[in-house]
Amino acid sequence: MSKVLCPGSFDPITVGHVDIIDRARLIFGEVLVAVGRNSTKSYLFDFETRVRLAEESLAGRDGVEVAGFEGLLVEFAKERGVIAVVKGLRFGADFDYELQMAHLNRSLTGLETVLLPAAAQHATLSSTMLREVARLGGDVSAYVTPVVNQAIKDLVAPPAGRR
Ligand code: PNS
Repeated sequence: MSKVLCPGSFDPITVGHVDIIDRARLIFGEVLVAVGRNSTKSYLFDFETRVRLAEESLAGRDGVEVAGFEGLLVEFAKERGVIAVVKGLRFGADFDYELQMAHLNRSLTGLETVLLPAAAQHATLSSTMLREVARLGGDVSAYVTPVVNQAIKDLVAPPAGRR
């Protein structure tokens, strides 16, 4: 049994991410989900909330752990003893982006990356589009876990007392 890292911004975690995490666990045995910061992105949910939503969405799964990380991914991978990074691939643009990151991470410390094709039903799902639909009041419940759906609703129309 090996431990792999599934890193990402998870802003927010979607059913597509959950599918990749479950499949990575089936293949490798143990998955550490690493919620990070991409300094080029501005986020809908703050860091603590992205970590909490990932934890709550994945609660009860054996062999799946969630952690937030700061700094370089390769250093975090070394500290936590993972054998590789696993990322999902939806379409060509993902491949170009992931290939660049995989090359960089491998050249920094030798950290390997395994790319897993997204399930067909999640192949065009994107957190960026979900955020846009959610901001405009659309229903995204088919694409996220119940806890994330509630968090989005609270953000778009905060419960009375938190407005
Ligand atoms: O889902 P994302 O937004 O593509 O996730 C990107 C993330 C957070 C995993 C990536 O930006 C990252 O690893 N950040 C940590 C800093 C780092 O190591 N950068 C170099 C990797 S190319």
